[in-house]
Amino acid sequence: MNEWETKCAYNVAETCVESVTVEELLKMAGVTPEQMTRDLLGKKLTYGWIEGSEKVRSLIAGLYQKQTPANIVTTHGCIGANMLVHETLVEPGDHVISVIPTYQQHYSIPESFGARIETLRLKPENGFLPDLDELRAMVKPDTKLICINNPNNPTGALMSEQMLKDICEIARSVGAWVLCDEVYRGLTQEDVYSPSVADLYEKGISTASMSKVFSMAGLRFGWIAAPREIIEAVLHHRDYNTISVGMLDEYFTELALTAKDKILERNRAIIRENLEILDKWVQSEPRASYVKPKAGTTAFVKIDTKLTSHEFCERLVKEKGVMFTPGSALHTEGYVRIGYANNKDVLQKGLALTSKFLKEID
Ligand SMILES: Cc1ncc(COP(=O)(O)O)c(C=O)c1O
Repeated sequence: MNEWETKCAYNVAETCVESVTVEELLKMAGVTPEQMTRDLLGKKLTYGWIEGSEKVRSLIAGLYQKQTPANIVTTHGCIGANMLVHETLVEPGDHVISVIPTYQQHYSIPESFGARIETLRLKPENGFLPDLDELRAMVKPDTKLICINNPNNPTGALMSEQMLKDICEIARSVGAWVLCDEVYRGLTQEDVYSPSVADLYEKGISTASMSKVFSMAGLRFGWIAAPREIIEAVLHHRDYNTISVGMLDEYFTELALTAKDKILERNRAIIRENLEILDKWVQSEPRASYVKPKAGTTAFVKIDTKLTSHEFCERLVKEKGVMFTPGSALHTEGYVRIGYANNKDVLQKGLALTSKFLKEID
């Protein structure tokens, strides 16, 4: 993605809901540019609140049912949150389970720390949901951590509250922590706000951020919601790689979380309208098929071609200017990941050019 995202004409690999401008954010938050200027001009650019201001942590806690500001710590994006959780919990020799496909951090980082990593493959025949019997058979008395991602990137699968509770029950049977990457939580096709593992399990850890659900990846603002014992352990590590999250990022995060309902309404409308466009394309394109996403911003689309997913994506971007993410980058051959939550015109043009391309290749 790094290689092509600035060069391609149609980026259909992007996973954020179309990002907002500062002006759009201000409008949704009901703040005038003059007010913002006054707020910012008076700010002395210190490190700010080291663990995140009480206000921002209260607003974040408000996204959960049982969390308080003491259970929240701010991080550099969800990527920073995930990294901190892994480096805090995982030690050489630990048994760690992660679903796959998912964000690569969840299996590659524990592996790099010397963990015995086992992956639980999400399969299309199960709607890309985890097979709980397989998970039950996989856990061991010394399983330290189970990593899941709900809603899932890349498949858009959404686990129900009952399934999350069942996973927590399996984890509880061996005393394992459950890390749920919830960076897409709230972006659902139906009006449900999926529950968080942090609210469901005494050893549940939730990571999330402003990037996807709130369309503000440029802030690089994320958080961990977890039992206090984890927050305290994380803080030891965080002192060495984070110090604090930028106070300007925190200012805009506070505005956005105050206006969260409006942003969520905008973003749910985008993902729902755009998924309809993608769905029509998949239904009409004989060489494409998928399990229709229930949530999130991405779909994992099977492409009937003799090319590898990498060859397919490379030729598609070179010959038609359309960028998808190859399934091979997510350890799943035969698929491409389509990020459908961005600009509608880009999606429509990108899909039309992909159909043209599919007529030209084997
Ligand atoms: C599942 C998942 N987790 C974490 C991240 C990182 O997000 P952030 O921009 O908040 O660091 C991404 C970004 O694509 C993601 O898809």
